[in-house]
Amino acid sequence: MSQLETPLFDVLLKHRNRHPIQFHIPGHKKGQGMDPAFREFVGDNVLSIDLINIAPLDDLHSPKGAIKEAQSLAAEAFGADHTFFSVQGTSGAIMTMILSVVGPGDKILVPRNVHKSTMSAIVLSGAIPIFIHPEVDEEYGIAHGISAESVEKALKTYPDAKAMLVINPTYFGFATDLKRIVDIVHAHNIPVIVDEAHGVHIKFHDELPLSAMQAGADMAATSVHKLGGSMTQSSVLNVREGLVTVNRVQSVLSMLTTTSTSYPILASLDCARRQLAVHGYDLIDEAIRLSKDARKRINKIPHLKVAGREKLHSSATYDMDPTKILISVKDLGITGHQAEEWLRHNANIEVELSDLYNILCLITLGDTKKEINLLVNALQRMSQTFESEATQRETIVNVPDIPALAMTPRDAFYASTEVMPIEKSVGYICAEFIMVYPPGIPIFIPGEIITEDNIEYIKMNIEAGLPVQGPEDLSLKTIRVIKERMPII
Ligand SMILES: Cc1ncc(COP(=O)(O)O)c(C=O)c1O
Repeated sequence: MSQLETPLFDVLLKHRNRHPIQFHIPGHKKGQGMDPAFREFVGDNVLSIDLINIAPLDDLHSPKGAIKEAQSLAAEAFGADHTFFSVQGTSGAIMTMILSVVGPGDKILVPRNVHKSTMSAIVLSGAIPIFIHPEVDEEYGIAHGISAESVEKALKTYPDAKAMLVINPTYFGFATDLKRIVDIVHAHNIPVIVDEAHGVHIKFHDELPLSAMQAGADMAATSVHKLGGSMTQSSVLNVREGLVTVNRVQSVLSMLTTTSTSYPILASLDCARRQLAVHGYDLIDEAIRLSKDARKRINKIPHLKVAGREKLHSSATYDMDPTKILISVKDLGITGHQAEEWLRHNANIEVELSDLYNILCLITLGDTKKEINLLVNALQRMSQTFESEATQRETIVNVPDIPALAMTPRDAFYASTEVMPIEKSVGYICAEFIMVYPPGIPIFIPGEIITEDNIEYIKMNIEAGLPVQGPEDLSLKTIRVIKERMPII
């Protein structure tokens, strides 16, 4: 088969054109049983391929036909031995990777700034996380990736680790020296699994960092929906044979996946793969060109700056993706959050994210010169508006200590718990996640012993106006801890 073909999309179209009388789910039956306003808005085309795993359409849980062919073409395009489609985003693919390589009591090396799906899978698997500090950027107040040196150190300290997870590239587009990390980890004969949520496009242009498969990693969970042109929720799990068992990966993915897989989502993956394989280079080339132009122009706007290649100085910041425009607004005397709100209300612009110091804008294969001009003009107006408040602000980026783990996150998750005032909780075992952004590093995860220093760190961040994420009590006056067993008298 050639990369020009879309076997799954074609089978869906062929099936729909036969106009079969449907006595199966979904009950809306090509939209006929659907709320008319919604039907009219989304259109009959998409509803006519909103089908289910009847024999002609293959089954994601046990692909033998069109889905198998579509996955094989994707594997060829991504340079993987096998590709699995995910209708549960990269979160589902990350959980599959982790549950495929570690079980109860196994140690897995992970960066501290992992996505919550990694921690969910660690709880479900019963594995023990060994955290590695990411490199922290004092200027922008963000976390980068981990360095090759810290991976070497972690493997020396924990030679019994069963796998290593790397985030590459980061949300902000910075990439580690992944090839070096893969070589170091493979020397210990254990797999490297990659959270590639923000890097579906990097394989398709040689100016971008190496993809996980190009670097020799064993698995990569890759959000096609984020930057690759497919529909929201669609991702791929790329697998290299050798240190992981492909059949196990397929069965774990099936365990975690709905039996009612969305065919519009799967078909959009098939078509996005064709577009990336056939036109990816040119489309991404244009996005890179637009990004470079945007970077140059934004850097000329008073009090704004964009993180660029000058930030590349270590194995943790080894390469970067210029299409991620991380704009520091702190010298304008406003927070990233204020900039986000200003752009929303005054320029009808929605950014990808904001934090205390920055906003992040993504330039993708969906952008043109027009959007770039609108962004640059809006940023110019924003800079003029806040000119009188402009000031040199200091970034507060302290990295909290990583507390000792007293029990596995899974045991902590299932233990009896109680809520207590945070001041009294020192020495108790935490039963919830507490994270502060930036730099996005969890301060406590379930199973860790609460320390005075980290409580101080949380308070300092709350006072600085940084949002705390995770705990039940967002004011953090109380915290959920593992209940201590009292003797029975
Ligand atoms: C670093 C990282 N990993 C994983 C994910 C999860 O991806 P998805 O939303 O496709 O489930 C995200 C989502 O933002 C992410 O930022």
